[in-house]
Amino acid sequence: MKVLVIGGGGREHALCWKLAQSARRPKLYCAPGNAGTAQHAENVPIAADDFDKLLSFARKQAIDLTIVGPEEPLCAGIVDRFTAAGLRMFGPTAAAARLEGDKTFAKQLMREVGVPTAEARMFGPTAQEIAQAKQSGRGRDELSYKDFQSGYDMARHYVSTRDEGIVVKAAGLAKGKGVFVHPDPSEALLTLERLMVQRELGEAGQRVVIEELLTGPEVSVLALVDGLNIYLLESAADHKRLGEQDTGPNTGGMGAYSPATTLTESDLATIERDVFVPIVDALRRDEIVYRGVLYAGLMMTTAGPKVLEFNCRFGDPETQPILMRLESDLLDAVEATIDGRLDQIELRWDRRAAVCVVMASGGYPGDYPKGHAIDGLKEAGALPDVQVFHSGTATRADQIVTAGGRVLGVTALGDTISQARQRAYEATKLIRFEGAYLRGDIAMQASNR
Ligand code: AMP
Ligand code: GLY
Repeated sequence: MKVLVIGGGGREHALCWKLAQSARRPKLYCAPGNAGTAQHAENVPIAADDFDKLLSFARKQAIDLTIVGPEEPLCAGIVDRFTAAGLRMFGPTAAAARLEGDKTFAKQLMREVGVPTAEARMFGPTAQEIAQAKQSGRGRDELSYKDFQSGYDMARHYVSTRDEGIVVKAAGLAKGKGVFVHPDPSEALLTLERLMVQRELGEAGQRVVIEELLTGPEVSVLALVDGLNIYLLESAADHKRLGEQDTGPNTGGMGAYSPATTLTESDLATIERDVFVPIVDALRRDEIVYRGVLYAGLMMTTAGPKVLEFNCRFGDPETQPILMRLESDLLDAVEATIDGRLDQIELRWDRRAAVCVVMASGGYPGDYPKGHAIDGLKEAGALPDVQVFHSGTATRADQIVTAGGRVLGVTALGDTISQARQRAYEATKLIRFEGAYLRGDIAMQASNR
């Protein structure tokens, strides 16, 4: 069996690592992959958004199954393209991936079916403004905020009436950089200007969601969904902020652990019943079949769990500790999802905990240098119960070098979160590259619980 994994980050390395353990011994390909995926798969130099080339590669190689890692190709309809061509693919269609790609769509759907989430207002161009902009015959780049002034004015007005903390979110995809948390609501005015006037995130920020600031521990609950059946994976939590004690800007994720120690079995049952079931059912009612991973980012507030966001894919870096704990064959689970057989599988999990510490390039999430040699990977990977998952790495003349913002996800298993954490940090000490940055407090609070 031939399996193609699309993407080139830590999540994709973890997917390839786990698929390589399948009893069915699949031949693996990864496009474009990284130096880590190359240990298990043949890397194919095609970008994750080059659908034509991916499709022709899959056809030529007679790929039996393609698994998509990142959100951009999913939201842009890669599953629709592959499926129309008769190819088997794991992931939701564009219509289903809108849950992640359009925060206003997700919010409206949650409201409609009563899924607990932050109170929110949404602002953007009016239908009339969009029609006028279209009629004017100008291209997307030629439009300015003046064409869509009313949404901006209304958003400003709304913000000026708030005296409690608020969160401003760009409605479109922004690689995790589209959320701005403002304990002081007056600061949100500048964010609105950056998003809606200066259009710093382009079209993604043309519409915004402004919501109440919630507090509480955050958790990531991922489920396999086959259109009808929902199978919750072991829980996880990630650390989105760059700095220790959750300070500084949001990043793609500086570390993660599984299980999320704040969640009880009864919380998980509540989340399945009040979040996953109504969303999957509402989509099906609208003839949208959700197949793939559905990921709910939640805050455990004193009033119960509330959804912060949906993602239409495996989380990164949550996938690294989750898959470290999965004992069952991932390939079987993926196929059961595609074939609508999730009611017939039972996944086995390692009862131990897993912690993933991200080592990043100095400067991330801003600009950072690339091409620094990475040493100590073998020594770290040889430690018991440790896996070094690669994110932004490449091979240059037999030397593994940095090639991205998040470089490695050093992941370890342990009897407790505290032990897993200790092992992961021990492994990071053996790894060296210039300017390496990591947070020293990943899973620290969880290990005290
Ligand atoms: P999102 O991409 O929507 O999950 O947002 C990224 C991060 O921003 C989350 O992981 C939270 O830490 C924070 N965040 C998002 N929404 C809220 C909210 N309503 N209240 C407080 N923090 C939030
Ligand atoms: N770790 C957050 C995400 O995958 O979006």
